[in-house]
Amino acid sequence: MRKAFLLAALAASVAAAAAPGVLGAAPRDARPWLNPSLSPDRRADLALERMTREEKLTLVFGYFSTDFAPKHYTAPAEGRPGAAGYVPGIPRLAIPPQWQTDAGVGVATQGGAAHKRERTALPSGIAIAASWDPAIAYNGGAMIGAEARSSGFNVMLAGGINLTREPRNGRNFEYGGEDPLLAGTLIGNAIAGIQSNHVISTIKHYALNDQETGRDWLNVTVDPDAARMSDLLAFQIGIENGDPGSVMCSYNQVGGRHACENPFLLTQVLRRDWNWPGYVMSDWGATHSTVAAANAGLDQDSGFPFDTQPFFREPLRDAVARGQVPEARLNEMARRILRSMFAHGLVDHPVVPGPIDMAAHAAVTRAAAEAGAVLLKNDDHILPLSPSVRSIAIIGSHADVGVLSGGGSSQVYPVGGNAAPGIALTGWPGPVVYYPSSPMAAIRAQAPRANVRFAGGEDPAEAARLARGSEVAIVFAHQWTSESIDTSLTLPDRQDALIAAVAAANPRTIVVLETGGPVLMPWLDHVPGVLEVWFPGTAGGEAVANLLFGRVNPSGRLPVSFPRDESQLPRRAIDGIGNTPDQPIEVNYSEGAAIGYRWYEARGLNPLFPFGHGLSYTDFSYSGLSAAVSGGELNVSFTVRNSGRVAGSAVPQIYVGPEAGGWEAPKRLGAFAKVRLAPGAQQRVTLTVDPRLLAMFQGGQWNVASGAYRVMLGASSSDIRQTATVRLPARQLPPGWRPRRPVRAR
Ligand code: BGC
Repeated sequence: MRKAFLLAALAASVAAAAAPGVLGAAPRDARPWLNPSLSPDRRADLALERMTREEKLTLVFGYFSTDFAPKHYTAPAEGRPGAAGYVPGIPRLAIPPQWQTDAGVGVATQGGAAHKRERTALPSGIAIAASWDPAIAYNGGAMIGAEARSSGFNVMLAGGINLTREPRNGRNFEYGGEDPLLAGTLIGNAIAGIQSNHVISTIKHYALNDQETGRDWLNVTVDPDAARMSDLLAFQIGIENGDPGSVMCSYNQVGGRHACENPFLLTQVLRRDWNWPGYVMSDWGATHSTVAAANAGLDQDSGFPFDTQPFFREPLRDAVARGQVPEARLNEMARRILRSMFAHGLVDHPVVPGPIDMAAHAAVTRAAAEAGAVLLKNDDHILPLSPSVRSIAIIGSHADVGVLSGGGSSQVYPVGGNAAPGIALTGWPGPVVYYPSSPMAAIRAQAPRANVRFAGGEDPAEAARLARGSEVAIVFAHQWTSESIDTSLTLPDRQDALIAAVAAANPRTIVVLETGGPVLMPWLDHVPGVLEVWFPGTAGGEAVANLLFGRVNPSGRLPVSFPRDESQLPRRAIDGIGNTPDQPIEVNYSEGAAIGYRWYEARGLNPLFPFGHGLSYTDFSYSGLSAAVSGGELNVSFTVRNSGRVAGSAVPQIYVGPEAGGWEAPKRLGAFAKVRLAPGAQQRVTLTVDPRLLAMFQGGQWNVASGAYRVMLGASSSDIRQTATVRLPARQLPPGWRPRRPVRAR
């Protein structure tokens, strides 16, 4: 029975795929939903009116698009091989299939696929956030969305935005850091860029999926009001900036209910409070029921056969027939999917696989890697290096051949193949992939007369010898992080000892970090230079060399705090390490909205590197801070000046906090800008503080208390340069309040 249905669905979609002219097959007035001048809502209604119940059921159920031997599963022939998902279309009504690909850094291929697509990878999401530049996020999104489209996909499973509550979360590299405004603005712009290609993007994983350990069954407890001011606010701002067609609900439970059958998350917050019109798709294997999930607000059940049952196939048909899921609810599910397909151009602009301009796209990813790298330390101006340096020791992390990428379903495979194949883990969630963009080759190109030599780093004594005999030593240190596993904050493979040995041999030692998030640095006092480049993407090697030699001035700022050690974290260890699925995991986010810098400041802790920190090869001065309320909005103005000798970008940050206290933390990021300035140039900047960041969420609304507020202009969360005080009147805002103009780079 199950199989027969599958075959019927497949046959229908074969017809769709094989009929490119299907859109023109009947006069438009016979199919009025094809009229692009009508609103997406109207078009969805019109198409829905013609649909049979079976056709509606077709739209709400998705298939994994890669063969999966452990489940004896063969992917639908009409799907794109090696991809994440496929939802058949309705050829009779000219509704195309949904071809779904991961993920946020580019067009991924599933690890189990025999053939890997070779595509351009952006630097990881955390690097995009570290750019603090919505245009970088938008352009990167536009580039990977174009590759998705050229690869035959019209749905991109991008937009990872889970806040860094847990710096050891193996997926932090896919996300936008610890602050809701920064993450929502940057990831939202990435989504907008993707969708500029007539491709739907998700925003994911909704919500509170902040560790990988036990992700399928752990239960998160958090004060719902605190969640509104942190994790959920990131989604809310991301949705405003990006307008994603779909939200992907997550694996974990929240308040005792799985996220994909959670009425609070899916109905109360998303639909009622935010009035969001798109469709909710489940993560692959995150659906646990039919009736509860459908009635709570799940619209599309993804990735058959990862759930224990095909919940939204035969069981949903039966539940609708029995009235357990109202017919009206099935209509709403199909309608929401259709609406997003119309709104984002999937029907009007059918995807056509085509060529990709790899050289142009390499320039986009290189610019993103350069914008997102963070110069953490630069004592005595050890950087930038002079092109006339005579000898350089390059040590570790396969820096002779490539740069590291993050693992799991988001893995993009590079043109030219893995530069360092065979490193464990070779199976899921591996393989570990190094992109063939050699930092050493790029460094050689910039210092043509230098003697550039490489040591693998396995033997610290050998590396130290090489460093001793060289003018400068550059140690590349890495931590591979990945979906489905969490990590330690300590660099693996005894790299701390390696760095210490090299630094002892040569005081001119620079550490380049390729990590998914924060790591500990016991050697920090002994090295003058540290550059965090995250997983820098397809052109990472060239980007690193450009930064090291000053062809590009570093301008990234930390989107996450770096702790000194685990004792500074809300949880010393990750909850549930070593538990089996029959042992429940309770994760209690008792810190509420005090995530990252808010946590450190509320507790009076001094991190290793604070949120917002990042150095430049020039200096910036800040002056003339003024803050005033006009038309109900808090507007802040100031002047930023490049007082150094080279061009560079400042990232002025506005923090706000009530003088009387009472928030989860003394201050929150309220606004920011990225300002490029020639040497000696200055600019007056005016920013508006989002009133939700001046409010507490209580009683179902945002409440700004009347009183005096501090407005702080900083170069990081702990480097405040100027402070002003402003009195705010009391203000209440509905839960779904949104700014008139989202921050959209164009
Ligand atoms: C991940 C999602 C991804 C999906 C499809 C899941 O394992 O959590 O982020 O989009 O797989 O590959």
